[in-house]
Amino acid sequence: MHQVRDLRKKKQLQASTKALNSTFNPHRCYSSMSTTNSAGVTINDLFYTLEDLDKDCWVRLLNGALKSKDEFHTAAVATLQDGDINFRTMVLRKVIPQEKQIHFHTDIRSKKWEELQQSNNISLLFYNAAAKMQMRINGQATLHCNNAITETAWEKTGVSSRHSYLTIAPPSIPSAVPTSGLDEAFALRNPTQEESEAGKHNFGVISVQALSLDWLWLHHAGHRRAFFDYKNQERCWLIP
Ligand SMILES: Cc1cc2nc3c(=O)[nH]c(=O)nc-3n(C[C@H](O)[C@H](O)[C@H](O)COP(=O)(O)O)c2cc1C
Repeated sequence: MHQVRDLRKKKQLQASTKALNSTFNPHRCYSSMSTTNSAGVTINDLFYTLEDLDKDCWVRLLNGALKSKDEFHTAAVATLQDGDINFRTMVLRKVIPQEKQIHFHTDIRSKKWEELQQSNNISLLFYNAAAKMQMRINGQATLHCNNAITETAWEKTGVSSRHSYLTIAPPSIPSAVPTSGLDEAFALRNPTQEESEAGKHNFGVISVQALSLDWLWLHHAGHRRAFFDYKNQERCWLIP
């Protein structure tokens, strides 16, 4: 009896999957950047088309970079090392919405720098619990050191953040004792502006060119999901 029911369910599932597949290609986007799509989603009484949503995502990311208390201030950043995935938290330092670019700061002696030299594929994960919003960005990283971009970014970096670039040994080097890796002089105080300059040659900027953004909004009446393909200039709604 159970076997007959299971078989019937299996056939129903196969039939509906076939019907879905014949009308819906998951790898194709249904609305190009140039067409207007009236279908949208209402969030906090505001109606968003796909185009509005794309802009909104970048405004949220921009806010994240500007406000240290914002939930989009940090991202989980994934890189590849010989086929293995490595994740770490990083602070958004600059967002350029019109270019779909995000900048991070790091120590050029770090593992992530080395990994990005091997493969510049990078993935960013954001979750804002209050807004119930997840964003996933896939992109390509460009590494900057000793150029105009790092020069400007370094000048804007305060001494408390410059601290991080003053470790005597490179990040990830094993130590016999728990340590900050800094010179003892900086154990209890920040370096002066002049002292902090020693960290400049370890300072790097990772700029990420977003190739796609996957947006998910959780809602009790049904989640919503959208995909923005910047490479092919397409956008579409997805089944969450
Ligand atoms: C809240 C938070 C923010 C961080 N921001 C940065 C950052 O902006 N840049 C950075 O290089 N590391 C940052 N880190 C440290 C990294 O997560 C990581 O531990 C470190 O960079 C070493 O990573 P790697 O060995 O993969 O290079 C942050 C950690 C936390 C917890």
